[in-house]
Amino acid sequence: MKKEENHPVESRNIPPTALVIFGVTGDLTKRKLLPALYQLQAENRLPEPLHVIGFARRPWDDRQLKDELSAGIREFAREKPAKQEFIEQLLENSHYVQSDFQNPAGYSQLLHYLDEKSYRKVIFYLATPPDEYISIIQNLSVCRDYAYQKDGIRIVVEKPYGRDLATAEELEKSLHNCFSEEQIYRIDHYLGKETVQNILVFRFANGIFEPLWNNHYIDHVQITVAETVGVGSRAGYFDKSGVIRDVFANHMLQLITLTAMEAPYAFNESSVRDEKLKVMRSFRPMRGESALVNTVRGQYAAGKMGNQEIKGYLQEERVAAGSTTETYLAAKVFIDNWRWAGVPFYIRSGKLLPVRETEITIQFKQVPLSLFNWRNMAGEAPNVLVLRLQPDEGINLTLGAKKPGPINQIAPVKMEFCYQDAFGAEPPEAYERLLLDCIQGDQTLFTRTDEVVEQWRFVSDILNSWESNPVDKLPQYLPGSWGPPEAETFIQRDNRRWFKSS
Ligand code: BG6
Repeated sequence: MKKEENHPVESRNIPPTALVIFGVTGDLTKRKLLPALYQLQAENRLPEPLHVIGFARRPWDDRQLKDELSAGIREFAREKPAKQEFIEQLLENSHYVQSDFQNPAGYSQLLHYLDEKSYRKVIFYLATPPDEYISIIQNLSVCRDYAYQKDGIRIVVEKPYGRDLATAEELEKSLHNCFSEEQIYRIDHYLGKETVQNILVFRFANGIFEPLWNNHYIDHVQITVAETVGVGSRAGYFDKSGVIRDVFANHMLQLITLTAMEAPYAFNESSVRDEKLKVMRSFRPMRGESALVNTVRGQYAAGKMGNQEIKGYLQEERVAAGSTTETYLAAKVFIDNWRWAGVPFYIRSGKLLPVRETEITIQFKQVPLSLFNWRNMAGEAPNVLVLRLQPDEGINLTLGAKKPGPINQIAPVKMEFCYQDAFGAEPPEAYERLLLDCIQGDQTLFTRTDEVVEQWRFVSDILNSWESNPVDKLPQYLPGSWGPPEAETFIQRDNRRWFKSS
């Protein structure tokens, strides 16, 4: 493969970077991190040699680390079959440190190894369960005295960054005790998705949509993150999180923000994140009663998905008896600023829904005077713009057109753009872009500390309201349906309906 111009060959002569993965034995490393690194290696995109150093509890050694990571790459790499040559290149200098995350001796051993190898740059990656974060960060505080240049050390933190505002602030405090904000990379993998980045390109590289992108022309926005899987082996984690902490507090709020933000003065880390932050600060708080009327929760019941029998959520292993954790959430969010005042953003996400799809739908308003018979369009304005983030990535715009014939009948027609047809190539995985950006020191696609705090400020109000108004049982829905009937009533109350593209 041709080398990218911005990754010159000479960079191979520079001293290597160490990527230290805490929780290297876990699923995230196997399914996402190593396959992404492999792809970068295979495409010659790693700007400098990179050594993978694993840190975890299991009694592995260097050999076993290499074998396990190689097996993970072969199973999950985008390129099939993965090439042994690139696996070798990526893992030839890998090293394993076996230690408990609480044990300072493990960290001394790690730092001794890093010192011995004189790495130019060290990236600490927290791929452990979040309960371990603070203890790892505190143990890493020795790195403050570690003889690297200021930008020689980075730390990558996976979501969830906390469970609510208080725990998020605690985590932020401990991160800032040891690292400067420029060294902290909080990953929200949605921001690494090509199609999510394309929201900004679509909005700000094309002059024709932006004049319409406001409350004068837009009736409402819908954002759907639908999944066909249940909670499966993640039930223990999920039961403590629910959709609100798992995807709403991060991925979905980021999607709203990118859809709603003003144009940044430049495409760089500070201005993009400044603009996103302004949107988050404009979310209308949902406190008390307002959180109850503007959200709908549901839980999947037992049923069938195709031919497969599905256990109800409450029967899943490691789900607490009588749990009221939501596997479906719909919400109506308002952004109280000049551009968006009065435009509802309807958000929904759930497990075991009929299709896997993530999309943003912009419903434009009716024309001022209806000259034709719009009833053919189910009484709605015809102009709907859909940004399809996955799968079948693309964008389509629905227009009303005259149906051939002697009477004026209007029919919806679509203008379509499909990534696959336009560019041929499969988009890279989010982690490829994010790991590369982190190695290169670009924080644009990572969440900043003030964003995290704002996200949790907004979400904690909802959580507090739910907690103060407990329910015995959540509305139930059948696997393969679009959530509980209450979700339909929720939007119908506003004379609108959920958009279904498939
Ligand atoms: C993760 C959540 O952050 O995002 C999962 O923890 C969810 O529960 C996943 O399934 C969705 O990501 P994607 O990339 O499959 O849309």
